[in-house]
Amino acid sequence: MTATGLTVSQALQQRISVRAFLPTPVPESTVRELLDLARLAPSGGNLQPWKVIVVAGAARAAVIDAARRYPGLVPSEDGERPVYPANLWEPYRSRRYKVGEDMYALLGISRENKAGRLAQVARNFEFFGAPVGVFFVIDERMGHSQWAHLGMFMQSLALAATERGLSTCFQEFWGMLRKTLKTHFQLDEHDMLYCGMALGYADPAAAVNTLRSERAGVAEFARFDYD
Ligand SMILES: Cc1cc2nc3c(=O)[nH]c(=O)nc-3n(C[C@H](O)[C@H](O)[C@H](O)COP(=O)(O)O)c2cc1C
Repeated sequence: MTATGLTVSQALQQRISVRAFLPTPVPESTVRELLDLARLAPSGGNLQPWKVIVVAGAARAAVIDAARRYPGLVPSEDGERPVYPANLWEPYRSRRYKVGEDMYALLGISRENKAGRLAQVARNFEFFGAPVGVFFVIDERMGHSQWAHLGMFMQSLALAATERGLSTCFQEFWGMLRKTLKTHFQLDEHDMLYCGMALGYADPAAAVNTLRSERAGVAEFARFDYD
């Protein structure tokens, strides 16, 4: 698998969350190559607090099957670690709402179409058709610092994938099945699954992949105390 020669800036600009993939397989050697790059991510004290499980083929099918027993948008199995804080406040609340509504608009799924929205959510548990699923695991005894370091590892992985013409979608949705997947993967006592990631080739014909999420400008989040 050859790199496309993108600069880091280009990879940052091109990486988006892809939610419809082609069935084109991704060789194990490619995923190993990506992980070999992502492991260079920094971490405080060089703890390297990340662990990863990669599934493809029958292992991927088995995870999808385990998730199929999940009844849909019911509360997470791990209520202690909700994906978002309760009663999300501004500007975060509006941002979350906007990206969701923009996505459903592209898919032609109205607010009233609850079944349609649930069906789209359920696509998470099929990796949106991606041939490879990646799960990020962290020791539950780790604190907020190590979680941040895991995030750096994850973004490094996504950028390396982008450089190779591959697409990704991080999937916190898998965290809703934290207990089911802990059993499924027979994780060690303290290991917990944080998040998944779909990995593969984007379907260029899928409308959902034309979604471009917005970002606040630098002036909105940065304070410059230059003198
Ligand atoms: C850690 C993490 C978890 C995410 N989980 C999900 C998910 O479960 N399902 C999903 O469709 N998108 C998920 N996303 C994608 C975000 O919605 C997306 O990154 C955000 O809207 C910005 O869009 P972009 O990635 O296209 O730039 C996740 C993103 C991150 C970073």
